[in-house]
This record gives sequence, C-alpha cells and structure tokens, in this order.
Amino acid sequence: MKRVAIIAGDGIGVDVTREAKKVLDLVVRARGLGIEQVDMDYGAERFLRDGVTLPPRELDAIRKDFDAVLLGALGHPRVPDMRHARDILFGLRFGLDLYINLRPVQCLDDRLVPLRDRTARDVDFVVFRENTEGLYADVGGIFKKGTPDEIAVNEDVNTRKGVERILRAAFEHARATGRKKVTMSDKANALRFAHDLWQRAFREVAADFPGILAQHLYSDALTMQMVKDPGQFEVIVTCNMFGDIVTDLGAMLQGGLGMAASGNIHPGRVSMFEPVHGSAPKYAGKDVANPLAAILTTGMMLGYLGFRAEESLIETAVREAVRRKKCTKDVGGNLGCRATAEFVCATLTPLLGGAAKSSAKRSKRR
Ligand code: IPM
Ligand code: MG
Repeated sequence: MKRVAIIAGDGIGVDVTREAKKVLDLVVRARGLGIEQVDMDYGAERFLRDGVTLPPRELDAIRKDFDAVLLGALGHPRVPDMRHARDILFGLRFGLDLYINLRPVQCLDDRLVPLRDRTARDVDFVVFRENTEGLYADVGGIFKKGTPDEIAVNEDVNTRKGVERILRAAFEHARATGRKKVTMSDKANALRFAHDLWQRAFREVAADFPGILAQHLYSDALTMQMVKDPGQFEVIVTCNMFGDIVTDLGAMLQGGLGMAASGNIHPGRVSMFEPVHGSAPKYAGKDVANPLAAILTTGMMLGYLGFRAEESLIETAVREAVRRKKCTKDVGGNLGCRATAEFVCATLTPLLGGAAKSSAKRSKRR
C-alpha cells in the first residue's frame, strides 16, 4: 500500500488539487491501485487560525510513513512575508532532502507553442533543477538593517556532494530515457568559485556517461537558446536559482504556467509533487484556474510510485483536452476548472478500462 499526503495549500492550489484528486480517485478505483490518500490541512488559513505552518512532527511522519506528497500551491495576501509558504515548501524540499526538482518542458499541442515556425515537437526536454542548496540555502543575514550602512548577504552554497548528485541524476535520466545530450548551465564566467565547482564536477560526471553528449551553456545564453531553438535541448541541469528562472521560461514554451508539472524528488524516498504555478489569489475559488498542470503532476507522482502506465494515460487524456479545446481560457478553451477536469476524467475512463493492467507490480522502484 502506498500512502500519499495531500496538501492543497492556498488560493487556486485548493481549486486545482480538488480536481486533480478526482482524477487520482478515478485512476485508483478503476485500476484497483493500493494508494491511500491523507489530506493535510496546512497553508495560510491554518497559519492564520493557529500559527501552525508545518510542524516538525508532521515532517517526520511524512518522512517515515508516506511515499509521496501532492502539493497544490502556497501564498496568500494575508501572509505577505510568505512565512508559512517558506516553512511548508522549503520545509519539504530541504527537510526531505529532495535534491532533484524535475520539471518537464513538454508542449502537448502545436497550438500552445508561442514561437513562430515551431511546433510542439520542438518543445520536449526536461530540466533538472538543483533543489537543496545554492542561493536558496538561507545562509546570510542583514547587517545594520534599516540604516544607510545596511549590508544584505545571501550566500551561494554549493557542495561537492550536492552538485555531483544533481549532475549524476540528469545523466542517469538521460540514459534511462534514451536521451543523448545533457546541457549543464552555470555562470562560471562570473561566479569564479561556486560555478568552477560545477564545471569540474560536470566534466567528471560526464566521463562516466560516454554515450551522452555533455554540452555547456552559460545561463544567459541558455535563456536565449531556449527561445531561439528549443528543439536542441534534451536534458538541462542547473543550479537552484537558474533552474527557478529557466523553468518559468520553459513553462511559457509549453503553453503557460497552467501546463507545467514538477516533481521534487529524492530517488527511493518520499518525494513531493507540485504544479509549477503559484496560488494566484486573484483567481481563487472562481472556477477559472487551469487544473491541467496539477493533473499532469498527479500523473508524475503516479509514475514515481511505479504506476507508469497510469501516468501515460493521464498524459494522453490531458493532451486530448488541449487538442479538443476542452480546457480553460489560458490554453485556448472556454471551460472552467471543474469542467476541464470532468473532460479529462471522461476521456480517461475508457482508457483505464481498456489498457493493460497496472504496471505497479512490475515496478522495481522500492
Ligand atoms: C517555484 C517557485 C518557488 C521557488 C517560490 C514560490 C519560492 O517559484 O517552485 O519555482 O522559487 O522555488
Ligand atoms: Mg519558480
């Protein structure tokens, strides 16, 4: 039996997670998957109610008793410093040592490609974003705060272990999925120390994967090339901060944040899955949010849990929703959040019945 913790969070996180859960329920029921879902009430409302963000006890319980976490989104206008969001999101990413932030940049329909003369075939790569250190390490401080002499410092923390394991994960993914090229992106021409480590580690790790082309691009050049010729990329690996930036750019190549899924992964351990988009408070509760990123994210989670066939059926159904414009306005349809998910479920139902039985038993993940 697999156990999944569900934290819907704030804003449209609540809307899209409700719909993603319907898809999950459908798949679990139709295929008889052994998945138990546990809803966890963490987010801004909870924080405003009783000051709780993510208790260390709960983090321990998630670490020990769960296989995955499905997260909606965090962020609420009544918590302007994002205190709860940092505690919960970074609490999970850092606390569970989820060092891979895997963000597929895959466009599901030609119509969604924003670039002239490009098709969906040109947008199909994955980004491996380092997820536990770099500028996100929360090392630093403010000296003489509020005075004219103020000094603010955020240290860019790069460890040999941290850099090496994300690089290795990218190459291993390339090998496992038959991809032939890994592009590492840093800013070693300016960050002489931190990114020199990336350069050296990259050369070393690449040497262990002789069949895979190791390419390097400075991060500014990477953003340019992602727009100029996205078809050249297969696997991109980069640091936490650059990964954050290029995956928003990547999301736009896929049709917007409403289409971008992600997994925060430590192979073999409990991992966390969240759509890339935020909580968009303005749209919360209005049945307008695009649930497809959350649904694709749920698919990713199922794949991670060993249910690969189900993941690919979900992707097929989402692709169909986009192709037939049975989706929200941001991706060219005129349905609401609920109706979009309903279409996905209706499309999925016959697929679930007809396809080969669950792949779970054959999975060797854990
Ligand atoms: C993301 C988000 C987060 C990040 C924010 C909400 C802190 O932008 O997941 O990409 O910077 O990692
Ligand atoms: Mg981001």
